[in-house]
Amino acid sequence: MSNSKKKKIKIFSDAFPPNELGERQKRTPISSIHLTLKEINLNPNEIIYKPLTKEHINELFILHREWFPIEYELKFFEKTLNPEYDNYFSIGAFYNINNKEIIIGSALCEIQEIDQKFLYHTSEDTLNKISKHISFFEEMSITFGFNNFHCCYIMTIGVIDEYRSLHIGKKMLELIKEKSLEDPYCICIYLDVIIYNKVAEIFYKKNNFEESTIIKNYYNLNGKYYDSIVYFKILTLSEKKEFKKKNESFCTKFCNYFFFYPFYLFIDIVTINLFCKCLRRKNKIQ
Ligand SMILES: CC(C)(COP(=O)(O)OP(=O)(O)OC[C@H]1O[C@@H](n2cnc3c(N)ncnc32)[C@H](O)[C@@H]1OP(=O)(O)O)[C@@H](O)C(=O)NCCC(=O)NCCS
Repeated sequence: MSNSKKKKIKIFSDAFPPNELGERQKRTPISSIHLTLKEINLNPNEIIYKPLTKEHINELFILHREWFPIEYELKFFEKTLNPEYDNYFSIGAFYNINNKEIIIGSALCEIQEIDQKFLYHTSEDTLNKISKHISFFEEMSITFGFNNFHCCYIMTIGVIDEYRSLHIGKKMLELIKEKSLEDPYCICIYLDVIIYNKVAEIFYKKNNFEESTIIKNYYNLNGKYYDSIVYFKILTLSEKKEFKKKNESFCTKFCNYFFFYPFYLFIDIVTINLFCKCLRRKNKIQ
């Protein structure tokens, strides 16, 4: 590819601050992938979603520089994609071009303990909503802390410019939710959006995230401070149950149908019988 062709491509990300006129700023791409993408027609059905691994670090590093105004260091990706740290997980959206899997979207998440960091990110109203949704929370006072519970924090999520608005982001959010549901103690998903990123706001609201709180001056970009809006989504008990049921192994299903359910039925019949006997005896005595 000639250099003149390279210069023609311009990209933008709504995560970058707008200029003085409030306009989105177009920038020259860093990743060479944009040139390849120009020549193909994407078939959304052929997108592969799977975890990222350490071999993707260099490409992710470049893509994050295109997507976000914060510079994520290589060690951030090394830590997040290191399988030894099981509190992190990732979702990658890949497309096969000339037998090579190209990253077209990614999401990096952290499963956190519910501690001061989470409480700092969450309004009282959100905590109340969480309590209402998950009944056993009502029994626990916030003052004791939700120490045994977790939440999933979306650290970064991005889709390559050429393929935005194709529901790749939506699919990654669905997979984040599924992954979070795997953890029975995970009660919600949350994230920060920089105040001017209106596209991200619409994106999260459209995907049923709710606004929790605004954190003043959370981001510092080249000495200028910006607020963050925290969005969250509660993982309800019914969603957890449904997920558990859907993902039950054949063995568990087999045991349930042929052992536990008949056993529960037997216990129910015995209890009803005993109850009826007691009633009859009471009637006889009277
Ligand atoms: C935010 C981002 C990840 C969304 O990914 P995406 O794959 O384009 O989003 P989807 O196609 O799944 O969009 C889902 C919904 O979000 C909304 N949305 C997405 N892009 C939009 C846009 N440019 N303008 C208005 N609404 C938009 C729409 O309501 C859309 O649903 P609809 O098409 O059914 O109306 C992507 O724009 C991106 O990478 N941005 C740059 C990095 C960034 O800002 N990350 C978020 C940081 S918090």
